[in-house]
Amino acid sequence: MAEYEDKVLHELDGIQEFDNPMPGWLMAIWWGSILFSAAYLVFYALAFGEGSMEAEYRAQTERALTGVQAHYDANPLVPPAPAELLAGAADPLVLDLGAARFARSCASCHGELAQGLIGPNLTDDRWIHGGSVEQIFQSIAKGWPEKGMPPWGRAVPPAELSALVSYVRSLQGSSPPGARPPEGEPFAAEPMPGA
Ligand code: HEC
Repeated sequence: MAEYEDKVLHELDGIQEFDNPMPGWLMAIWWGSILFSAAYLVFYALAFGEGSMEAEYRAQTERALTGVQAHYDANPLVPPAPAELLAGAADPLVLDLGAARFARSCASCHGELAQGLIGPNLTDDRWIHGGSVEQIFQSIAKGWPEKGMPPWGRAVPPAELSALVSYVRSLQGSSPPGARPPEGEPFAAEPMPGA
């Protein structure tokens, strides 16, 4: 026992407590992490203005959006030739593709049979924004966001975008039941190739 005497801090009921300080390296980590957390709090959590997390988030969002816009500028949406869109309206493979996409992305607003629901009837000969295949392409690709029609040009791959136009064109005059009343101006649909 004698050799531990100088180390004994105190003793109670025969239980001795030694003075065993933590090793220096562990204390260094301990103090280091306290200092780090204080600095972190000041620089990030409490920072205002330019240095704040919010400003950093905004700057990153800004950079991402600029990048997306630059990509769009470099890759503009090229409308397919009207003849190609009309030919698609008589091609079962194209129509299958268009019908599948229509069911997924369009039926919720225009109805299963494009008879019109929230959005206008797409099967009659009246159009708010024009009924040529080029105009239908523009309506679908760019949308009419302020009127509730989303833009699909960047959300749908080009082949499906064209197929949608062909599909809508193929529905002309299909007279589905429960159709929404006509809206817009009459447009005599272009003849289909071979018709
Ligand atoms: C969130 C609802 C909504 C969805 C989804 C939607 N549309 Fe529309 N769409 C509308 C509305 C509303 C209008 C009418 C806009 C206006 O009055 O200017 C419209 C207009 C149109 C027009 C122009 C009609 C005209 O008379 O000129 C076309 C074509 C069209 N949509 C096709 C589509 C296709 C194809 C899809 C699927 C890719 C689709 N829409 C998905 C709501 C929608």
